[in-house]
Amino acid sequence: MKSDLLVLSAAQLITAPPGSAPLVGRDLDSPILLADAAVAVVGGTIAAVGPTRDVAARYPEREAKAVLDATGRLVAPGFVDAHTHLPFAGTREMEFEARAAGESYEAIAARGGGIRESVRQLRALDEDDLSDRVVKRLERLLQQGITTVEAKSGYGLSLEAEMKQLRALKRAAATTAAEVVPTFLGAHEVPDDYRDRRDTYVDLVVDEMIPAVAAEKLARFCDVFCDRGVFTVEEARRILVAGKAHGLLPKLHADELADVGAAALAAEIGAVSADHLLHASDRGLNAMARAGVIAVLLPGTPFTLGLPFAKARSMIERGLAVALATDFNPGTSMSSSMALALTLAVTQMRLSPAEAWMAATANAASAVGDGAKVGRIQPGFEADLCLFDTDDHRHIPYHYSHDHVHAVVKRGRVEFDAGQYWSCF
Ligand code: NIG
Ligand code: FE
Repeated sequence: MKSDLLVLSAAQLITAPPGSAPLVGRDLDSPILLADAAVAVVGGTIAAVGPTRDVAARYPEREAKAVLDATGRLVAPGFVDAHTHLPFAGTREMEFEARAAGESYEAIAARGGGIRESVRQLRALDEDDLSDRVVKRLERLLQQGITTVEAKSGYGLSLEAEMKQLRALKRAAATTAAEVVPTFLGAHEVPDDYRDRRDTYVDLVVDEMIPAVAAEKLARFCDVFCDRGVFTVEEARRILVAGKAHGLLPKLHADELADVGAAALAAEIGAVSADHLLHASDRGLNAMARAGVIAVLLPGTPFTLGLPFAKARSMIERGLAVALATDFNPGTSMSSSMALALTLAVTQMRLSPAEAWMAATANAASAVGDGAKVGRIQPGFEADLCLFDTDDHRHIPYHYSHDHVHAVVKRGRVEFDAGQYWSCF
């Protein structure tokens, strides 16, 4: 049979077992690992995966439009980055420096820096410029093996600026191959002009922003930063209920700085995911496990801020589906490297390399609502693949801060190809 792309002779291929449900418990640590593996792609979709001999018997090389030689290489699903603040305007290296000198993230936020600094930067930039910046970042992300990325607003914090941020994201997404899953995060912080009337700001989010975002179909999810010094559980509940009424699925930035009960709220409201969870209570985590809320862990953030890491092992033992993401943003995690997220997951949160891979692909796909579409190398799924110049999946977290990516395929098209084989090990 004819194919549009054949990936042949991979030294190793890693993917989740067949299915589309998030992986929990031991299943997180039981990926399929194939040697001498191949993938056949027809029309942007995976048609076959298995031993090269079997796949090539059904999809011969001479009938393939394109071939990628994966000899000596690792083939994995494209990474799904399930939590980013990608459409930011500028950077905050001054705060990075201040933290090194001893000032805390919360102290910087309280004096008007932090998210409110990013808001000032974003409001000063027009939609065209912002979109151009996002395009460049999306291209870079693809080269790092990220084929699907969730991206949040939350640096506008006015009707006009939130809409600008989401529209710029949509325009940027339309020009690049990576799939972008947009999230409305109007409740990221209380903006400067509402500090002494925060209820009025929540009214604005509920009565004006959510309906406008939903009417223009600018977001799939609605997120709230529910934490100490930001939005309370009551405020978050009101916002997420309003989002749901407009078709926006709930997500939460939950209990990152302190246990405020956000994990339990995520369970109560039926959130798709609750993210961060550095201080989430056992009760909150148990409620999440019962409700099937995915725990998106963002180890780049405690790494950057010098905070304790999330208790991933205890979450997995409780039956929670754990996913990994970068939290790419200019304040707390200035990195779009999913490979680094894997390294931190293994070294700081004691995930096995296999668990980290599953958390960054299959479970991350579920965390953005795409678990039946991407994140696995499985017939019928989108042909999103990453080829690495190494023959073992463990090398990606183990050999850190090294660019192993050889080629990236999105919906069956080769979007990046580094050319020669670079590994020297
Ligand atoms: O996920 N926690 C809240 N939001 C971001 C930080 C955003 C910022 O500081 O700009 C986060 O860490
Ligand atoms: Fe975040």
